[in-house]
Amino acid sequence: MTRKIVIDTDPGQDDAIAILLALASPELEVLGITAVAGNVPLPLTSKNARIICELAGNVDVPVLAGCAAPMSRALVTAEHVHGKTGLDGIDLPDPEMPLQDGHAVDFIIKTLRSLPAGAITLCALGPLTNIATALTRAPDVVEKIQQIALMGGAYFEVGNITPAAEFNIYVDPEAADIVFKSGIDLVVMPLDVTHKALTTRPRIEAFRALGTCVGEAVASWTDFFERFDIAKYGSQGAPLHDPTVIAYLLEPQLFSGRHINVEIEVQSDLTRGMTVADWWRVTDRAANALFIGDLHADGFYALLTDRLARL
Ligand code: RIB
Ligand code: CA
Repeated sequence: MTRKIVIDTDPGQDDAIAILLALASPELEVLGITAVAGNVPLPLTSKNARIICELAGNVDVPVLAGCAAPMSRALVTAEHVHGKTGLDGIDLPDPEMPLQDGHAVDFIIKTLRSLPAGAITLCALGPLTNIATALTRAPDVVEKIQQIALMGGAYFEVGNITPAAEFNIYVDPEAADIVFKSGIDLVVMPLDVTHKALTTRPRIEAFRALGTCVGEAVASWTDFFERFDIAKYGSQGAPLHDPTVIAYLLEPQLFSGRHINVEIEVQSDLTRGMTVADWWRVTDRAANALFIGDLHADGFYALLTDRLARL
């Protein structure tokens, strides 16, 4: 029985690797890929999503453009991390596959309404604008969502775009607030776990050793992507943030975390987008998310490399 998913994304090199992992995994049926503004503006994220699908050899998956800006704030992008194109590191041809007509939010709503309750998992790899807009416009779809698995937030690792906030949540904190208050089953991959999923030279060379266009692209993206984290954190490599979301769906036993309360700061400018995670359960606030804190990194990279070899 395959698991039906929709991937909402702002590619971004790490998003790209997550999408490749999903498209390479027969356990998952990717019903669609919805682009959102985030790492780079929407015209680029919706173009990059198609570049990635063509690299995977899958031009049948519907790709749609979604929200070009957060629900109530100006867009903040991350070219300093991902480069001007959002997929810097290797030159790939412009996509030939078209965007599907229509808005990604309408696609999400229509797709959810067309299936039984609990039939679809939403995989959120960028700011939560598309998903929160869908939940606001069509509250009836909440029951149709089996789970939302998302990359975002932080507790012990605090922030990467400000001292207090992780990028995806920071860009659209109001959208994140809607999602975290929705009552939907949430699995959260914060920086606490993604910062333990670091690229290393052997791991990158294993991608390159696949000897395929996919292997070369992934190795080149991670070579480019890691320069930012090495300079900033002095770490040995770059955190592969978004692929942890897809890996969790495939092999959840690689991950561990706690079911806790997580609330989003939307008032303060100083701590805008902070995920206030009650890791130590010091409040009586109801748990609303499985907040992942650790992973088996070698197992994660073995899964990723094995699946990428299939493309
Ligand atoms: O903070 C990391 C997250 O922000 C990742 O999803 C990355 O792609 C960017 O969207
Ligand atoms: Ca992303």
